[in-house]
Amino acid sequence: MKKMILDIDTGVDDAMALAYAAGTKEAELIGVVGTYGNVYTEQGVENVLNILEMLGKTSVPVYLGAKHGMEKDSFDRLEVSAKIHGQNGVGEVDLTPAKRVKETQHGVDYIIEAVKQYGKDLVIVATGPMTNLGMALKKYPEMAKEVGQIVIMGGALTVPGNVSPFTEANISQDPEAAKLLFESGTPVIMVGLDVTMRSVLRLSDTDRWRKKGTIAGEKYADIVDYYINIHDEIAPYLHGCPLHDPSAVAAAIHPEFFTMLPLFMTVETEGPSVGRTIGIADKIREENPNVKVCINVDTNKVVNDMCQTLEALFTDSK
Ligand code: RIB
Ligand code: CA
Repeated sequence: MKKMILDIDTGVDDAMALAYAAGTKEAELIGVVGTYGNVYTEQGVENVLNILEMLGKTSVPVYLGAKHGMEKDSFDRLEVSAKIHGQNGVGEVDLTPAKRVKETQHGVDYIIEAVKQYGKDLVIVATGPMTNLGMALKKYPEMAKEVGQIVIMGGALTVPGNVSPFTEANISQDPEAAKLLFESGTPVIMVGLDVTMRSVLRLSDTDRWRKKGTIAGEKYADIVDYYINIHDEIAPYLHGCPLHDPSAVAAAIHPEFFTMLPLFMTVETEGPSVGRTIGIADKIREENPNVKVCINVDTNKVVNDMCQTLEALFTDSK
C-alpha cells in the first residue's frame, strides 16, 4: 500500500482532506507537515494534532514546516482567510486540545527522510503553498527522481484564479516554490481550480455526519457548515462549498476519477500575471511531461468517495 504524507495549512478544506487521508483504505497516512497560508503554521499544526486525536489517529506524527515563502522573510495572514476558515482555521469550532505534541524534527527534513526511505512507494499531497516541497528539493534535488508522486492542490490552467485573474491562492503565496517544483522534473499531479470548483458539498451531506452521534461527526459537521455558509455569501452560485483540498487526496488515491493533460508546466514569478500556472511554450513538442494537469473530474465519484470515507471514520470514532 502507498505511504502518504500530507503537507497542509489547516484550514477547513484541509481538515476535510486530513480526514479523507486518515480514513481511506487506499493509502497509509504516515505523517503530516504543517505549513502557513489559511492560518499561521503553528495554528495549523495545532489543528492537525487536535483533529487526529479526535479521529482516534494518534499514531500519525505531525511536523512543523515553513512559516513563510522561500523568498520572503515573514507571512501575514490575510483577513479573507479568517473570514473563510474562521479565526482558528476550523470554522470557530472548539476542539479538545490534543495530548500528543508535534515532533521536534523540521517538516522539510522529515519529507527528505521519507523520500529516502519509501522512494516510489511515497505520495506527498500538498494542499497549501509549496514552500516545504521547494525547500526539500533545494536541499535534496535527487528527490525529484526518487519520490513516487507529488499531488498539489494549486493553480488554474483553464479557468481564472481566485486571488487574481491569473492566480490561485496556494500558488500566490509562493510562486517561486511552485515553479521550482514544476521545473524540477518531479512527477506532479496538479489539482487546480479547473476541477476543485466542480465538486461541491452541501448541508445535506454534513447533516449525515452529525447524525452519526459521535463527537467527530458533530464537530466536522459544524466545521464544514461554517465553510458552506460563508460560500453562500461569497460564491452563492455553488449552492455549497468547493472541495479544493479533498480533491487532491482523491487524485492521489483515485486518479481514474480525473481527466489529466500531460504538460511541462511553469509558474510566472513576475509581471502582471505573476502566479499564473502555464505550459512551457518551447517544450510543447517534448515527450513525457512530468506534470499531469487535472482538467475534468467525475464530481459524483469524488463527493461520494470522500463522504463514504468520512462517514465510516466518524462512525468508528468515539
Ligand atoms: O485556492 C484554494 C486553496 O486555498 C485551498 O488549499 C484552500 O485551503 C486555500 O488555502
Ligand atoms: Ca489548503
